[in-house]
Amino acid sequence: MSKNKNMFFKSAERLTYVPIYVFAKLDAEKQALINKGIDVVDLSLGSPDLPSPEGVINEAQVALRDPQNYRYPPFRGQMKFKEATSNWMKKRFNVDIDPASELLPLSGSKEGITHLALAIINPGDLTIVPSPYYPVHARGTLLAGGSIYELPLIEKNNFVLDLDSIPENILDKAKMFFISFPNNPTGATCDFKFLEKLVKLCTKHEIILVSDLAYSELTFDGNVAHSILEIDGAKDIAVEFHTLSKTYSMAGWRIAFVCGNKDIINALYEIKTNTDYGVCNFVQAASIKAFSIPLSEHKKTCAIYQERRDVMLAGLQKLGWNIQKPGGAMYIWLPIPKRFKSSFEFSSSLLHEAHVATIPGGSFGTYGEGYARLALVNSKERILLALDRMEKAGLRYSV
Ligand SMILES: Cc1ncc(COP(=O)(O)O)c(C=O)c1O
Repeated sequence: MSKNKNMFFKSAERLTYVPIYVFAKLDAEKQALINKGIDVVDLSLGSPDLPSPEGVINEAQVALRDPQNYRYPPFRGQMKFKEATSNWMKKRFNVDIDPASELLPLSGSKEGITHLALAIINPGDLTIVPSPYYPVHARGTLLAGGSIYELPLIEKNNFVLDLDSIPENILDKAKMFFISFPNNPTGATCDFKFLEKLVKLCTKHEIILVSDLAYSELTFDGNVAHSILEIDGAKDIAVEFHTLSKTYSMAGWRIAFVCGNKDIINALYEIKTNTDYGVCNFVQAASIKAFSIPLSEHKKTCAIYQERRDVMLAGLQKLGWNIQKPGGAMYIWLPIPKRFKSSFEFSSSLLHEAHVATIPGGSFGTYGEGYARLALVNSKERILLALDRMEKAGLRYSV
């Protein structure tokens, strides 16, 4: 169906390069149920339900009263914010980042990732994207007129990327390569050796390596995530995106940053000077506070998500699912029961028969079909309610 149907104008051709979000239809149906007063347990978007840090909120109130913050922010971001993030990268990963040239604040990493693709990708260029993927990793390239090579990140391979399986002609052609571990939607993690091998591969083939480390502080069972920039030589080819959305439950504040290779960052900066004025001054000022929170505090957040993960997996086991424990992020990647023809059909049944909202795996690329993603962004009690409703609706794995 044409996206332009019933419109008096034709929207830009590039909008036809991106597939229609299959989740959009289900989201509208979810909203309709909620509008009717039905209590939906919403496990769809990965939007954290925990409160933003008290210190950041207090700082924002102060920053809102500072007249300096009523003006446009500096194009390259507030130096104080950039110094705080650079110090955090040192403290957390022992990585040196020059705040002036190797770092840029972003209005969320979603914005930055899409703008990066617009800065790098020409029509016909190729990006390697592990699949299933966070949709933006693919859509930025597609919007820029490029194409993607989906590298399977699948159960059969134990959710490990097989770098040796990438054909030589793909490696020669590729301009960018995305990774994101801990992974959305699979919850997979990766080890240091894998990152070393990847940096070598991308260096050899002159591919820009983009690490999206949105879930660096959300790991379980003693797992610790690594920055790509810890690897020798990575800064020659790589940039890394970090967000405050997940670590500090600040998704609504819209603040993130990118750091790494200064030429890649400069290309992104050029696009951004043409499209926005950067992150609100008071948000940058307040967010500095977040980086002063001791790293040990993150363990408390991890413990909350880990408990939710375990409650969810135990309940799903009673319903016939036997799922490997995800090592990080905030999702359960659920294989759909055989009787459903598609992930959309399964998520639709969950929504209408159990009033539980999820995202069909097909939304995350070719290798996402056959799964549904459940976000652990509800309390333990609400997760138990969702499981109870699934049981009552007969939504079990074996049926
Ligand atoms: C892998 C990944 N990257 C980036 C984002 C978005 O981050 P932000 O809120 O900073 O735009 C998400 C959100 O779910 C995500 O899963």
